[in-house]
Amino acid sequence: LSIVTLISGRGSNFEAIVKTAQKEAWPVIFSGVIANHSAAKGLDFARSEGIPAFTVEHRAHATRESFDEVLIHKIDQLGADLVVLAGFMRILTPQFIRHFEGRLINIHPALLPQFPGLHTHERALEAGVKTHGATVHFVTEGVDEGPIICQASVPVLADDSADTLAARVLSAEHQIYPRAVKWFLDGRLRIEGNQVKLSPPEP
Ligand code: GRF
Repeated sequence: LSIVTLISGRGSNFEAIVKTAQKEAWPVIFSGVIANHSAAKGLDFARSEGIPAFTVEHRAHATRESFDEVLIHKIDQLGADLVVLAGFMRILTPQFIRHFEGRLINIHPALLPQFPGLHTHERALEAGVKTHGATVHFVTEGVDEGPIICQASVPVLADDSADTLAARVLSAEHQIYPRAVKWFLDGRLRIEGNQVKLSPPEP
């Protein structure tokens, strides 16, 4: 099976997935990483691992539709059984989402349905929640609304800043995203309505 990853920045989630795959010898090919701008740090990691790294500049496109068309074409060319959004900061068109429906997943730095959208850590602190976390979900047309695959929670501590909280959430992300990807690759995820059913591992 093959995975294409879309990133916009640091790419630490992508790195966590690749390293777990290596450590556990997953039968998977990382057929490419695509960033929406060439400064994305995660491209360097990809290159250092010999994973094909590409940039599709969103700024070179007048519309979201034309950017997404190029992206769809590129991903199809690479061949993707699974498309992993890992800190990809562009909103995708319904056309893109429909094209990859059922094989498109994302990680969001909050316990959805709490805090969809941006600045989740600041908003968690403002709301005074005692528990925060991260969610891996299938992507559907509503932003941050798709069927939830798994979540991890972390405590919010009295002296947390958005940065310290973000760091705690990020290390939880690095635990759950590789697990969710592996479940997908093992064929253990089934979408039923807006729910994901996880079947037991093969004996
Ligand atoms: C993560 O917190 C992810 O949940 C959010 O953006 C961050 C990306 O980090 N959407 P990285 O690029 O994977 O290091």
